[in-house]
Amino acid sequence: MTRTRVRHSCTDCGAQTPRWLGRCPECGAWNTLVEEVAIPQARATSSPMPTAVSINLIDPIGAQRRPTGVPELDRVLDGGLVPGSVTLLVGEPGMGKSTLMLQALGRMAADGERCLLVSAEESCEQVRMRADRLGVLEPSLLVVSDTSLHNVLAQVDAVAPDVLAIDSIQTVHDPDLPGSPGSVTQVRECAQRLVRLAKERGISVVLVGHVTKDGQLAGPRALEHVVDTVLQFEGDRHHALRMLRALKHRFGSTHELGLFEMGEVGLIDVPDPSALFLTDRRAGLPGSIVAPVLEGARPLLVEVQALVNSSTAPMPRRSAQGLESSRLAMLLAVLDARAGVSVADVDVYASVAGGVRVIEAGADLAVAIAVASARIGVAVPDDLVAIGEIGLGGELRQAGQTPRRLAEAARLGFRRAIVPASSAGVEGIELIRVGSVVEALAAVGLSVDQQRAAS
Ligand code: TYD
Ligand code: MG
Repeated sequence: MTRTRVRHSCTDCGAQTPRWLGRCPECGAWNTLVEEVAIPQARATSSPMPTAVSINLIDPIGAQRRPTGVPELDRVLDGGLVPGSVTLLVGEPGMGKSTLMLQALGRMAADGERCLLVSAEESCEQVRMRADRLGVLEPSLLVVSDTSLHNVLAQVDAVAPDVLAIDSIQTVHDPDLPGSPGSVTQVRECAQRLVRLAKERGISVVLVGHVTKDGQLAGPRALEHVVDTVLQFEGDRHHALRMLRALKHRFGSTHELGLFEMGEVGLIDVPDPSALFLTDRRAGLPGSIVAPVLEGARPLLVEVQALVNSSTAPMPRRSAQGLESSRLAMLLAVLDARAGVSVADVDVYASVAGGVRVIEAGADLAVAIAVASARIGVAVPDDLVAIGEIGLGGELRQAGQTPRRLAEAARLGFRRAIVPASSAGVEGIELIRVGSVVEALAAVGLSVDQQRAAS
């Protein structure tokens, strides 16, 4: 006899404990354990034993990918959706997940794939309105608005789609299971059923999932290991730029970054982001320099800006946009202690233009130069880029893949780069090799004496 028993699952990491605890013993998050009813598992039936075969005789998966027709999405997927695979697309509400899905399904439908969109959040009429705007009114794109898993499975039987999208996995539910729609039990069990369906029928399934503000997968965190691919769609709400990354991908690399702009007619691919980020740059202003940063495998040129202003507050303000505030605080301390650029009594605003978020240390040198340039009031030559990580001693360290960054800078017409002493060069760009922040500032024409003269 099977007994239904109660257990507790963490909504962040999916860990399970028999009793309720205030803090998850696995991931340490507070108040994330929720009660769920364990589903009695059917006893496994004995299955025939498979035969072991030589590895080179096995057919590679993913050989026949279905390109989505959205170039930046295909870039992140490494070619397209794999038949029989499940992809989870997550992002905050309003990011554009439904828009991206509809555009991709529309293009696949135009290409002859049979696509079924289960819209569990919006009515068919709403979806049609959006499809009209996006220009994807394709006859082989079928839409149904439903929230019951049973109906979804029946639809798949009736329609036999090549591609199935569920928008969103948090709103479909199985009435036979305990828990309300969106609960850990419901989300996990529904997803597992859809994973089986994908494998059995060779359908490419895409599940849309909402995440909360702090970037955690609300509830379906536990889905990460159930699905083959997890794509995260992110961006700044006040900016049109959207970034798509693979957090997990069983059929390719997770290093590719996809870039889009949300426009009047949906998401537009951004094949040359560096050019886009630098279009509105005004050269010759103090406090600005270009940094070649890496987003996964993709080098991007971004403008780092700084502004300093005399402060009237007892605690001067530090504002970091698109940068980590703790990294900015560390760089200000190094500038002050190691390079004699005093920032103790001024407000400092530092930002990366264009809505990009830079979380790698390779932009350290550019941030330090931008702040020093703003503080001293002297502009940095505008044919220059800066690459390098800064240590607490004010020394410069190599940033990963410097040659790729240099090549991108050279492609966009930059002629000189300030880099750590050990950097290897590439064709088309002159290197100015320096060992410390002090040397770097001197090389770009910023000296502390100028600051003294200015203040
Ligand atoms: P949506 O795809 O509904 O986001 P999600 O499914 O992630 O919640 O799109 C969100 C926003 O995008 C919405 O505020 C409207 C805007 N949008 C455009 O700016 N242009 C468009 O062509 C479309 C379809 C949406
Ligand atoms: Mg949506």
